Amino acid sequence: MQPSERLSRIPPYLFAELERKIADKRAQGIDVISLGIGDPDTPTPALVTEALAEAAADPGTHRYPSNRGRPELREAVAGFYERRFGVALDPATEVIPALGAKECIFNLNLAFLDPGDIALAADPGYPVYTGGPLLAGGEPFLMPLKPERAFAPDLAAIPADARERARLLYLNYPNNPTGAVVPDGLFEQAVAFARAHDLLVVHDASYTETTFDGYVAPSFLATPGAKEVGVEVFSLSKGYNMTGWRAAAIVGNAEALEAYWRLKTNIDSGMFEAVQLATVAALSPAGDAAAREMSGLYQRRRDLVCDALREIGVAVTPPGGTIYVWAPVPAGHTSTSYCEMVLEESAVVISPGGAYGPNGEGFFRISLTIDDDRLREAVERLRTSLGAAEGRAA
Ligand SMILES: Cc1ncc(COP(=O)(O)O)c(C=O)c1O
Repeated sequence: MQPSERLSRIPPYLFAELERKIADKRAQGIDVISLGIGDPDTPTPALVTEALAEAAADPGTHRYPSNRGRPELREAVAGFYERRFGVALDPATEVIPALGAKECIFNLNLAFLDPGDIALAADPGYPVYTGGPLLAGGEPFLMPLKPERAFAPDLAAIPADARERARLLYLNYPNNPTGAVVPDGLFEQAVAFARAHDLLVVHDASYTETTFDGYVAPSFLATPGAKEVGVEVFSLSKGYNMTGWRAAAIVGNAEALEAYWRLKTNIDSGMFEAVQLATVAALSPAGDAAAREMSGLYQRRRDLVCDALREIGVAVTPPGGTIYVWAPVPAGHTSTSYCEMVLEESAVVISPGGAYGPNGEGFFRISLTIDDDRLREAVERLRTSLGAAEGRAA
């Protein structure tokens, strides 16, 4: 048996490796606390599970769905975009359901890249922005995200050859892994850049509903001209505690959505209609409060983690959104050596920044998705064993 050459072009998925390491430790009887993957620990809101139960009992939802999605879902997404972002969408042509943002982003690579084409991807960034282009036969071109530029890519610094070959530009704010919110003017620059180079902007809006300190994240599509050059992928995974549901939507440029839809009709058979109807409930005005409540929870946890990190001498900038804290590793460590030491000394899993791209080196990521007691315990372990380790190093 010989897996394809294509598959050998990508490294193993980060969390597959982490899961293996955690399993090894647990097999040795060690109580490991994982602050690795970002998977909300609290349940999906009751209004969503109740809508699912009702819809799942209706035989009308049991047959093959359409890749276009039910009209109720497309209308609910459009209603949410109008209410939440002030963005008008045509439910008939500018909204299509997706089986999670990951599926959607991966498949956009298949829909838009030919061999030799480039997808411009943030470094550090969500791994699918780089693995997706490689699996699709194209190439990722990395755009460094640096703290001194507020984690905005420098579009003007992209070399001419890469600009000419670029067909896709990935953006993601609030940003995984850095926790940055969109820097002023970046969306406007992206629209101008896309017009100048005839490419599609894909804004990954997986974290717009998880923001702190009163900040309200905008939609890329609220930027003048954005709909002519771009799409947005809106996921319910993080904001609504729905990672297991595989519920998302792609919205925006109708031509791009048509290409995605054509591809998808050959790949999968759409989203279970009961999940579509549960998603309608999540996106109703009654669902807004659930997302706001989750932001409050993560803000509390963010403060807990940032205070503890500062106490052990880590110069962390609190994130404006997302479910992550991104912090510099202490001097003398690489991101991997630091994360390995943390695992060994305190049985706490954190993610090495280098796994998100070369410019993630020198940082580590903590996910805020475990319950408050375990998070407190993890923080205490970091404070005692690592505080002591830093003391020994000094
Ligand atoms: C930036 C980003 N995009 C997309 C995803 C995946 O979202 P979904 O569960 O909708 O596939 C994640 C998950 O961690 C993410 O961090």
